[in-house]
Amino acid sequence: TDGVLVDRYGRVARDLRVSLTDKCNLRCTYCMPAEGLPWLAGPQLLTDDEIVRLVRVAVQHLGITEVRFTGGEPLIRPGVVGIVAAVAALEPRPRISVTTNGIGLARLAPTLRAAGLDRVNVSLDTLDRERFAALTRRDRLADVLAGLAGAAEAGLTPVKINSVLMRGVNDDEAPALLRFALDHGYQLRFIEQMPLDAQHGWDRATMVTADEILAALAREFDLTPDPAARGAAPAETWLVGGGPATVGVIGSVTRPFCGDCDRTRLTADGQVRACLFATDESDLRAALRAGADDADLAARWRTAMWGKRAGHGIDDPTFLQPARPMSAIGG
Ligand code: GTP
Ligand code: 5AD
Ligand code: SF4
Repeated sequence: TDGVLVDRYGRVARDLRVSLTDKCNLRCTYCMPAEGLPWLAGPQLLTDDEIVRLVRVAVQHLGITEVRFTGGEPLIRPGVVGIVAAVAALEPRPRISVTTNGIGLARLAPTLRAAGLDRVNVSLDTLDRERFAALTRRDRLADVLAGLAGAAEAGLTPVKINSVLMRGVNDDEAPALLRFALDHGYQLRFIEQMPLDAQHGWDRATMVTADEILAALAREFDLTPDPAARGAAPAETWLVGGGPATVGVIGSVTRPFCGDCDRTRLTADGQVRACLFATDESDLRAALRAGADDADLAARWRTAMWGKRAGHGIDDPTFLQPARPMSAIGG
């Protein structure tokens, strides 16, 4: 490693999130409109080899030890298994995870496991079939539940579940989701909704807060703070019934964790983003296609991270949502 990814506030990025595609096979109402979005065009996308090259630079030159593949929906990228295998073959080998909506995971889990995938996080906001169909605009709850089971069976553990609660939509389901996760041995985390939707419809006033989620859970479960070190994890965790089971809350808005952030991001079209909420990006695809060597790519990545903002700034009166929506950043 010739210099880690450090920013002007002294934070070191060890965790790389790579978006494999901006496309998705669901249409969650809090993410994108029913008709989808103007997807990135083929030539704009990094090829599988380009992705592996940039991950290699991050791992071998920049001190990255954790690689997470995201989307859109990463499992719809045709080359996903090959990309995982190539990244698992890197020296030093990073830990590899995927954040997925779970569709197709039942079929792919054993193959991904064999390719070197360590674990998965699966999005699941409701256990009710009709609600799921309304929320994601696709009637595919059964596929997601099968995906969770398949991931656990294939050893992609711990299997984590991400749930975004929305007022009047599924905010009555927190205890049921936790009971489901406890029954199956999945680690549940509730997420505060962030202003990253393509429709710009986020409203602070209606967002379900971490405090509300915890209060709802505490009515039915015994929660105590998890003594385990949190590190740079977005999720704050509680022991359920004295443990060992836990439940997490990712309170990005009301309990920001930007001061401990250890993330850097690469979009499917080869742009480095220092922050989920960055309004500027650094074009590694152009540099790579112009023939830049590893040291040059690493230097550009370091420069991009040095300028990382101190925090997301959601509470600033001048806050502006980034132009790129969540589905094209990778969350
Ligand atoms: P673990 O390593 O399994 O804890 O993964 P994770 O929680 O970091 O990743 P995941 O992709 O499952 O994301 C869960 C939620 O955390 C999503 O809503 C992400 O957008 C959010 N998240 C991930 N990284 C960041 C970050 O750097 N800042 C903020 N504000 N939210 C993040
Ligand atoms: N705020 C918070 N989480 C979101 N996700 C999608 N959009 C948002 C948002 N605006 C969640 C997905 C998935 C994870 C990657 O991020 O539900 O679980
Ligand atoms: Fe797809 Fe995730 Fe957006 Fe839902 S939140 S439409 S699963 S990218």
